[in-house]
Amino acid sequence: MKIIQVKDYQAMSEKACELIVERMQKLENPVLGLATGSTPEGLYKCLIKKNKEGKVSFKNTTTFNLDEYVGISKEDPNSYVYFMNDKLFDHVDIAKENVHIPSGLEKDMDQECENYEQMIRNAGGIDVQVLGIGVNGHIGFNEPGTPFTKPTHVVELTDSTREANARFFASKDEVPTHAISMGPKTIMQSKEILLLISGENKADAVAQLIEGDVDEQMPASILQKHDHVTVIADEAALSKT
Ligand code: GLP
Repeated sequence: MKIIQVKDYQAMSEKACELIVERMQKLENPVLGLATGSTPEGLYKCLIKKNKEGKVSFKNTTTFNLDEYVGISKEDPNSYVYFMNDKLFDHVDIAKENVHIPSGLEKDMDQECENYEQMIRNAGGIDVQVLGIGVNGHIGFNEPGTPFTKPTHVVELTDSTREANARFFASKDEVPTHAISMGPKTIMQSKEILLLISGENKADAVAQLIEGDVDEQMPASILQKHDHVTVIADEAALSKT
């Protein structure tokens, strides 16, 4: 794992933006894996700016998001479809048919999981996967204890994750209990991974990720086994390493 230490959230976002733009300029048809949460918001702002300045185009880019809540409509401001449109897709020159976000609204969710895996394969796999990390070490919505061999699957969210995400909802009770998420296996199949981490509340998770064992209780630890991972972390996130 390559670790790039930066000063703060802004510097993390700019560094990530620089690396992604570089990859997008190099690849003919880039396939990006994208994440939600507060962490990548600054990166998306920067990508919008670069797109508007004509420095990078999304015309040939395909995207796959990591996850989505189960049971909330696409129009719900808490859905990840809404989030991604609002924070990125509505503001860049991407073709909407090239945007993929798993659906949490299907009758047959197992089939949806299989279809999602198939779509990623059909696109030739993910070139660069952007990741954040949960306070309990989750990646995507893969909670502690998720087998590393899992492909896209439906997960029951832990109390700590629902608590952490309650800030976006009127109350914790309104946070969905389940989500659909790429699995650790899907994430590990990406050709390159960019993990962004900011803030002191992530410091324990970061310390465990960098210094701990590879352990299913710490989902992000599987990244130690991937040979093209770059962690961009700010000083606060690295304060316990
Ligand atoms: C959410 C998302 C993850 C994200 C994580 C951290 O639950 N499913 O993809 O990385 O939590 O979120 P944040 O960046 O807001 O701290």
